[in-house]
Amino acid sequence: MARPLTSFTNKRHLTTKSYKTQDKLNIRILTHQRYTQPKVDFTGWVLDQIDWRGDETAIDIGCGSGSYVDPAQQRCGHYIAGDLSLGMVRGLEQSGLDRLNLDAQHLPLADKSADVVLANHMLYHVPDKDAALSEIARILRPGGRLVAATNSAGNMAELMNLRHLARQRLNVSLPTTTQRSLVANLFSLENGRSWLEKQFHHVTRCDLASALVFPDPQPVLDYISSSRDWYESVLPNHVTWDELLHEFQMLLDEHFAHHDQFRVNKLSGVFVCH
Ligand SMILES: C[S@@+](CC[C@H](N)C(=O)[O-])C[C@H]1O[C@@H](n2cnc3c(N)ncnc32)[C@H](O)[C@@H]1O
Repeated sequence: MARPLTSFTNKRHLTTKSYKTQDKLNIRILTHQRYTQPKVDFTGWVLDQIDWRGDETAIDIGCGSGSYVDPAQQRCGHYIAGDLSLGMVRGLEQSGLDRLNLDAQHLPLADKSADVVLANHMLYHVPDKDAALSEIARILRPGGRLVAATNSAGNMAELMNLRHLARQRLNVSLPTTTQRSLVANLFSLENGRSWLEKQFHHVTRCDLASALVFPDPQPVLDYISSSRDWYESVLPNHVTWDELLHEFQMLLDEHFAHHDQFRVNKLSGVFVCH
C-alpha cells in the first residue's frame, strides 16, 4: 500500500528537497514552454487579468525561480520576490531585486503595504490556506488585488492516468481515501473559491486550456523525474524509484508504438480577488 502524500505541504520537504534549488522546477517550466500547444505567454496572460497603473508595489509570494520577475517588473513600480525556500530566492539572478525568505502563513510585511499580491501555483503547498489568505488580505491596501493562478483538479489527466497505471503494475495504488483527501486539500480552480471568499468579497476566475504535446517519451520521463521527491515519498519501502520509472518508460514505449505523440491536456487559470 502506498503512503499518504504529506510531503506536498511539508515545509522541510519543500525547502530541502522539491524546492531546495531552482533546478527541478525549471525542468517543468521549460517543458511547459517548449511543448505547450497552442503557444501562450502564460505569465503575461496571468498578469494581464488586472489593470496596472505602473506605480504599484507587487509582492510575489512563492516566486520560485522567478517566472514573474521580468513581466511583473515591466508592469509595476516596485516588485518584491518572496519564497519559503532560501535556495529559490538566492537563485534569482536579476540584480537589485528585493528578495524575502518568507512563509505565506506569517508574512513579514506591514499591514496595507501592497497593491498587488501574486500567489501563483503555490497555495496548494500551504498547509494552512486560511492563515495565508488572511495574511495576504492584511498586507493588501484598500483596492489592492490578489492574483492567484492554479490548476484544475483534472489538469494533466493523461499524466495522472500514466501514474495510476505505473503504480497499478507495481501493485501500489494510492488508497481512495488518500486520493480524495489529496484532491480536497489541493488548492484548485474548482475548490479555490471556497477559501478565497472567506477573505475577499469579489473573486473572479478565468481559465486557460491548452495541452502538452510530446513527440517522444524522453521529455515526459524528464518531467516526471523532476517530481521524483513526491512520487518517491508515497512509495512503499519495497518499491524503488527505478522500478517506478521503468514502468513509466514501458507504458510510454507502448503508447509510442501506436501513436506519434503523447498529448496531455491542461487546464490552468487564475483567480483575481479584492
Ligand atoms: C510551483 S512553484 C511556483 C513558482 C512561481 N510562482 C511560478 O508560478 O512559476 C511553488 C513555490 O512556492 C513556494 N512555497 C511553498 N510553500 C510556500 C509558503 N508557505 N510560503 C511561501 N512560498 C512557498 C515553493 O518554495 C516554490 O518555490
